[in-house]
Amino acid sequence: MENLHDKRKVYDKSQLVESEIKQNPLEQFRDWFLEASENPDIYEANAMAISTVEGDGCPRTRMVLLKAYTYEGFIFYTNYDSKKGKAIEKNHKACLHFFWPNLERQIIIKANLEKIAENLSDGYFHSRPKGSQLGAFVSPQSQIIPNREYLEEKLKELEKEFENREVPRPENWGGYIAKPYEIEFWQGRPNRLHDRIVYTLNDLDWEISRLAP
Ligand SMILES: Cc1cc2nc3c(=O)[nH]c(=O)nc-3n(C[C@H](O)[C@H](O)[C@H](O)COP(=O)(O)O)c2cc1C
Repeated sequence: MENLHDKRKVYDKSQLVESEIKQNPLEQFRDWFLEASENPDIYEANAMAISTVEGDGCPRTRMVLLKAYTYEGFIFYTNYDSKKGKAIEKNHKACLHFFWPNLERQIIIKANLEKIAENLSDGYFHSRPKGSQLGAFVSPQSQIIPNREYLEEKLKELEKEFENREVPRPENWGGYIAKPYEIEFWQGRPNRLHDRIVYTLNDLDWEISRLAP
């Protein structure tokens, strides 16, 4: 096995100090997100991990794509009958995580999840390429399937069926909004003395604290 003991980087690209941060974490998110999206070395700045808690009490983490963010929260799209969909039905709390190594930054967001309005899911669904629309139809996400051909056959059938028709959004596919109540911004610093600034929602106000690294 490879020895990883000496694999470590010096983090010295930036800093996160109280005098320079935004008072609202969604504005701070926007600043960091724009920097990440404009960085040519970051492949998909909007890829984020989302952890939900399953029935057995164990968190389960997977990547999804952030498709919008507002002062209210963070929106992504998925299959409502997937493992994550079922977990969210039982426990609407989730944790989102962004890591942009080139910027030496991570963001950890604790949030309550809600389905977005159906007309918003319709709007996004119809803005996707037809292949992705059909893919959402074809895939019973998170269920066991017999083999790959099962998907490919189903896709061929649907391609014929919808050749000259608009693909309707499957009822079990749509968006969630993650409404945050805690957001931590982490900036790597030298000597492992990283900056950690956490915003916590208290009634309608965001309180700002610094955490030890
Ligand atoms: C970079 C990346 C982006 C992804 N984006 C999405 C997405 O936006 N929505 C989605 O349902 N799955 C997305 N996936 C697939 C999920 O990680 C996951 O496999 C799928 O949603 C099923 O998860 P579940 O069984 O835990 O519910 C993405 C995977 C990767 C690696």
